[in-house]
Amino acid sequence: MTGTIPATLVPGDGIGPEIIDATLAALEALRAPFAWDWQVAGLAGVKAAGDPLPRATLDSIHRTRLALKGPLETPSGGGYRSSNVRLREEFRLYANLRPARTLIPGGRFDNIDLVVVRENLEGLYIGHEIYIPIDDDPHAVAMATGVNTRQGCRNLLEFAFEHAIATGRRKVTIVHKANIMKALTGIFLETGTEMWERRYRGRIDLDTAIIDACAMKLVLNPWQFDVLVTTNLFGDILSDLVAGLVGGLGMTPGANIGTNAAIFEAVHGSAPDIAGKGVANPIALLLAAAMMLDHCKLPDLSGRLRQAIDATLNVDKVRTGDLGGTASTAAFTKALVSRIAGG
Ligand code: NAI
Repeated sequence: MTGTIPATLVPGDGIGPEIIDATLAALEALRAPFAWDWQVAGLAGVKAAGDPLPRATLDSIHRTRLALKGPLETPSGGGYRSSNVRLREEFRLYANLRPARTLIPGGRFDNIDLVVVRENLEGLYIGHEIYIPIDDDPHAVAMATGVNTRQGCRNLLEFAFEHAIATGRRKVTIVHKANIMKALTGIFLETGTEMWERRYRGRIDLDTAIIDACAMKLVLNPWQFDVLVTTNLFGDILSDLVAGLVGGLGMTPGANIGTNAAIFEAVHGSAPDIAGKGVANPIALLLAAAMMLDHCKLPDLSGRLRQAIDATLNVDKVRTGDLGGTASTAAFTKALVSRIAGG
């Protein structure tokens, strides 16, 4: 079975190679049938090929249409444009699916099972920005342009409703700021409510929430929500918020889905503060690999992987430092692999 599904592998920057190693060990123990094509991007791309998104990496994903990716570093302020944003644009990865589930019971919030569906190509997040110089200040005025299109909203909202129904969810909440940004986020709210009226009423419940109130409600009573669908920047922020409800960024995976490819990754970044120390929590990327197995219609393997993660955390009590444990990445991986082999 090994090696029958071609897939691109990008280890990424910072803790990327460490958590990719852990994930490959788990996938190997599962005998997941991926034939990996190793490529570079981000800072590793600049070092190896003088480009944060080398042509060979793009060509590989065009060929495989499937990738597992570690986090890619993006310099703040100046420097090159985010390789993540460029990848989403290149492959039209319009939907960013970010589930957050409680894996360790007894925390501040128990039994969390939320999904954030984030628009991935439009909005204020696209980084169309300029400075206007005045006198001797080159940065006297900063401007950003946000763009949301009817078709872009339709693509994402249809994905969200279909995904919610296919996975047995009860409710979709459209999160917006249409009271203030009446055009930019009004178009999203309008498209979503019209689509629900025409095609989804009676099949799934619909709710709407303004982003700021939604953030507060998520902290006070997250169980009132189920699937949250929102524009790019709000989705970026909300998905970190819901990661916080389930134990932090080490626990939440993400899938970038489009017509031309699907790229799976952790929600978190390259964590430069802990890179190279061997203490990173690989669970977010492991769960991204489970989503990739689901995407490839291998639910037996994804189920075994999720069960093994659960047993390692809750039966063996092997946990990394961010979860209050003392295990290194390697120790966690070893325990996980023996759970997979044993189960
Ligand atoms: P970050 O997510 O890398 O780190 C935030 C905090 O969470 C840090 O204290 C870090 O140590 C901790 N953390 C993150 N992942 C962890 C894990 N698996 N185990 C244990 N602790 C973990 O966010 P930050 O520092 O804002 O960004 C660092 C770099 O990553 C930036 O260059 C940013 O642009 C990039 N980034 C890349 C993403 C991607 O490739 N999808 C997503 C987010 C950020």
